[in-house]
Amino acid sequence: MLVAPSILSADFGNLARDVEAICEAGCDLVHVDVMDGHFVPNLTIGPVVVEAVAKVATKPLDIHLMVENNTFFVDLFASLKPEFISFHIEEEKHPHRLIQKIRSLGIRPAITLNPHTPPEAVEFLLADVDMVLLMSVNPGFGGQKFIGNVLQRAKRLKKLIEKYNPDCLIEVDGGVNDQNIHELKEAGVNVVVAGSYVFGNKEGYKHSIDSLKI
Ligand code: DX5
Ligand code: ZN
Repeated sequence: MLVAPSILSADFGNLARDVEAICEAGCDLVHVDVMDGHFVPNLTIGPVVVEAVAKVATKPLDIHLMVENNTFFVDLFASLKPEFISFHIEEEKHPHRLIQKIRSLGIRPAITLNPHTPPEAVEFLLADVDMVLLMSVNPGFGGQKFIGNVLQRAKRLKKLIEKYNPDCLIEVDGGVNDQNIHELKEAGVNVVVAGSYVFGNKEGYKHSIDSLKI
């Protein structure tokens, strides 16, 4: 299992320190939640802050866009050379075109599905993406309760991935912790995002990250 701590739960007054610490503690990706106050009822960070994160991160960035104008935001973040940019299928009229654009910028394209969106919605995009992100909470905030239907959705998605693009990764985001990590693994999930569980763990970042690396 690859582990991508969400910096949404970091201490923003000490963001560089926290990003360095999760990288040293052995995370695989640094998950960056970009919210615009329109697609979701919350507003987070833009390129100035993400550039500062990119400077200190020793692990690749995984940028999760929760915005209305995806193309504009892809252009804003492209120069930071993230490993992945994911955008929500619910908010994109031309997902295939946007996937091609992200790849042409040298970034691995990923597509995100809200809890109500069936995996079949992206069936004909699977051949072209490197990762599908299944939300296990409603996007917008850290610290929410895990929505268990993601397990069923991951299993259905896995079957489609085997048919169209076996190298495509499945990522799950929201409410992930050491209690649900085993069922996520069994459902075929390859990457987990964890915010409050990693940053709120009393036993430290290494302990929490290691507990998800099963
Ligand atoms: C929610 C974000 C998540 C969030 C996860 O919209 O996409 O990445 O920070 O936080 P936890 O792990 O606390 O649910
Ligand atoms: Zn996220």
